[in-house]
Amino acid sequence: MSTAERAAMVEAARGAIAARMGHLKPTIAIVLGSGLGPLADRVANPIRIGYGEIPGFHVPSVEGHRGELLIGRLAGQAVIVQSGRFHMYEGHSADVSALPVRAFAELGVEILIVTNAAGGINPEFGAGTIMLINDHLNLTGRTPLLGGALPGEERFPDMTVAYDLGLRKTARRIAEENDVPLREGVYAGLLGPSYETPAEVTMVGRAGADAVGMSTVVEVIAARARGMRCLGFSTVTNPAAGLSQESLSHVDVMAMAAQVGGRLGALVEGIVAATA
Ligand code: HPA
Repeated sequence: MSTAERAAMVEAARGAIAARMGHLKPTIAIVLGSGLGPLADRVANPIRIGYGEIPGFHVPSVEGHRGELLIGRLAGQAVIVQSGRFHMYEGHSADVSALPVRAFAELGVEILIVTNAAGGINPEFGAGTIMLINDHLNLTGRTPLLGGALPGEERFPDMTVAYDLGLRKTARRIAEENDVPLREGVYAGLLGPSYETPAEVTMVGRAGADAVGMSTVVEVIAARARGMRCLGFSTVTNPAAGLSQESLSHVDVMAMAAQVGGRLGALVEGIVAATA
């Protein structure tokens, strides 16, 4: 795709969302990971936009991803909630994976909160742990920044502090106030969709990863290129491959994500309230 076509894809999505957005002007977007869909139920009186109504958006093929945007108020703040993402393992390019984030930026969103389900590599991060992402390893081999820089994007975005320090501080404070145990670590994003081999888990663990998953990194790269402030949470749904006797399954991942969803939802809502 040419740079002009990539920019046109963002503009078409922005226009379709703007046409449905009403008077709300969200400055925060929240991306929900596998099984975390119920977090969307916290949004008051949302406008719902099915992905079929937005050019360039695709109906998710993965269970646990709903496929709609919700625009409404969370803790009194105008937000966009992206319920269902476009994973590169579904055959999407990095540009398509990052399309919602780019459209949100064009709509005036300044803060991106991403959530995902992940396998735990740090032995202290058992199933059910909520991990505040403090950095990431992009091991997907993909980036949404290939080709000409899109309007409003940095050619060479600085990734030194990809996950905003101030938002991380707020997250720790809200977690403590609400007695939500919160750990902190590095998220490794791989392409998937096969889960990792034990050897791959050993490799990314030695490279510094505390958790591993199949999303998030290209969204955060696009967001940083636009100067958005990012905050990310992984729900550790299982010990990564080879670290327990269990084999991995998407059904178990979703079940554990659903169990933790309430706590993570409360945490995200508290952070949104504190970000007024
Ligand atoms: N690996 C990759 N992605 C995941 C995992 C995992 O173990 N668990 C949930 N998402």
